[in-house]
Amino acid sequence: MARRKKIYEGKAKILFEGPEPGTIVQYFKDDATAFNAEKKAVLDGKGVLNNRLSEYFMTGLNQIGVPTHFIKSLNMREQLVRQVEIIPLEVIVRNYAAGTMSKRLGIDEGTQLPRPIVEYCYKDDSLGDPLVSEEHIAAFGWASQQDMDDILSLALRVNDFMSGVMFGVGIKLVDFKIEIGRVYEGDFQRLIVADEISPDSCRLWDIETGQKLDKDVFRRDLGSLTDAYTEVARRLGVMPKSSTPITKPTLIN
Ligand code: CDP
Repeated sequence: MARRKKIYEGKAKILFEGPEPGTIVQYFKDDATAFNAEKKAVLDGKGVLNNRLSEYFMTGLNQIGVPTHFIKSLNMREQLVRQVEIIPLEVIVRNYAAGTMSKRLGIDEGTQLPRPIVEYCYKDDSLGDPLVSEEHIAAFGWASQQDMDDILSLALRVNDFMSGVMFGVGIKLVDFKIEIGRVYEGDFQRLIVADEISPDSCRLWDIETGQKLDKDVFRRDLGSLTDAYTEVARRLGVMPKSSTPITKPTLIN
């Protein structure tokens, strides 16, 4: 296999130079981290599931006119994506209180919010991705006012799409995080959804039982993370039909 130049290695993914200028190969690792990488594990098959699920969500978004960086799937762990300039913000959308919002504001986990709430965190692991306001974003020049309008609109469209897709398979989309990238097209530039959308970056609860089907399973030691992600993939119909273990790469397209 031709070796590609590694551009960047993060906690859950590796980025390689793509075959053409302006493209990148995104490789999904099995590594799981939580609490800013204080808790770590290698979970067989997680990368395969996240690659498949992110492909599924990004393809759906592209089809309904929400632009994303996703170009095509390459194999079980890799996808070809557009190279973007990442905006240094984690954009979080919440439909129900959970996680840090519950802690910060003393709202019980699972409380439905009056409307979707969008939060911004400054992307910096050494600082633990601190929550920032639009004032910080404008003052430090991380994004312009036009960018912020576009980011809000993208975030809410992703929320509507993801909430609907999940509702259709009996799952509540509690919250999620996306990252946004800037691409240049001739004289124009625009913002598109980048990075990944997977159970690593969403909170997904079974509507009937409340069972967690996301990274909280790992964060809070609630059982097998890959079983939870497999359940999400199975419900969405994106797992291979056979009972082939996802850790046997050669048997899956
Ligand atoms: O997940 P945690 O409780 O640390 O933080 P949160 O602010 O409650 O996270 C809101 C949502 O964004 C959850 O679905 C997280 O999984 C996701 N998130 C993420 O994917 N990456 C981060 N660096 C922070 C949050």
